[in-house]
Amino acid sequence: MQNEIQENNGMNVRARHAVPLSDSAFLKACRCEKTPFVPVWLMRQAGRYMKDYRDLRDKNSFLSLCKNPSLVAEITVTAQEKIKADAAILFSDILLILEPMGMKLEYVKGDGPSLLVGAHGRAPLRSSADVDGLKNVDPVKSLPFVFEGIKQTRQRLYSAIPLLGFAGAPFTLASYMIEGGSSKDFSLTRKFMHEDRGRWNILLKKLVQSTISYLNAQVDAGVDAVQVFDSWVGALSPEEYRDFVYPHSKELLESIKRVPVIHFGTKNSNFLEMFSEAGGQVIGVDHRVSLADAWKRIGPSKAIQGNLDPEILLTDLATIKKEVRRILKEAANRPGYIFNLGHGVLPQTPVENVIALVEMVHEYTP
Ligand code: CP3
Repeated sequence: MQNEIQENNGMNVRARHAVPLSDSAFLKACRCEKTPFVPVWLMRQAGRYMKDYRDLRDKNSFLSLCKNPSLVAEITVTAQEKIKADAAILFSDILLILEPMGMKLEYVKGDGPSLLVGAHGRAPLRSSADVDGLKNVDPVKSLPFVFEGIKQTRQRLYSAIPLLGFAGAPFTLASYMIEGGSSKDFSLTRKFMHEDRGRWNILLKKLVQSTISYLNAQVDAGVDAVQVFDSWVGALSPEEYRDFVYPHSKELLESIKRVPVIHFGTKNSNFLEMFSEAGGQVIGVDHRVSLADAWKRIGPSKAIQGNLDPEILLTDLATIKKEVRRILKEAANRPGYIFNLGHGVLPQTPVENVIALVEMVHEYTP
């Protein structure tokens, strides 16, 4: 089998994972312990760049895939095995929790997600009445497919591969509700926030309460770590982050105590210190900041995850190798490092480049 003959860094794949789960390189790195090789996984490692996924997607809507635990497990495990990542991330989406809160969620071909208030989708979230109408989620009751998906994935995944759960951070989730979908400038969200701070705080508190229950239920179901995605936080100024977002993110991140938490954001190098202080044992950084700089600013007590520009995976193997070596050099063998991209794998990425990238990270010797 390919698994057994593939040698890199003096270890075949089986040897690399011949340890108890808690001693896996990924979980050790989360705890800032030394690892025998640099662990690597990729945000959006299960997705449209992979033919196996596209084949399933041709026959099913994205939401119906997310709501089918057996297919969730299949997609999650196939992606991890195909690229030989050192962790798997559950196939799901940050927006699913908004449905039981009272939003109508749709993924429109070519347009991305659409989020409207009410079961029939009146309009994006705008008024205090809209916020007051949002329900607190009992995730076990309303998102059972996620937890059943975690259980089935854990059964099918190789025993020493950690499984990550995840959720959206309150700012990023609020932005989808207020904009009604994806946005470039987040101007409606920022207007909503500045116009009525009380209303904003009630919204973020509701999101935080539901997300705490959601992540804890993922831990109960068997995930080994969780990532909190604050993908669009970089739309804010440092002052806006401090006043409108930091206290809420902090409350969420401090409430997840039983597994390592990865706190990920993009375009936030203006306020990386504050972002890191909000919480998380691991800080996910994007490609707009250098690892060396990020480390100085975050300090040695936290692990760092990142930060290859996903666009680099659209180039050639020599360019990818050069960038991988540059990043690993910057990481400088420091304990507490997890290789990842600065943001998710792009749909047009050749799968061979992703497979080669994971190999390059494993093979690297300084
Ligand atoms: O990482 C993984 O492989 C696990 C699965 C995962 C998905 N979404 C699957 C998905 C994860 C971790 C997410 C998180 C997510 N979802 C984020 C945070 C990460 C990031 O990229 O910043 C965000 C912002 C979303 C919201 C979302 N979901 C958008 C904007 C879209 C449409 C655009 C796009 O990227 O495809 C989705 C859909 C989505 N989520 C797909 C997948 C595989 C594509 C759906 C399809 O097949 O058409």
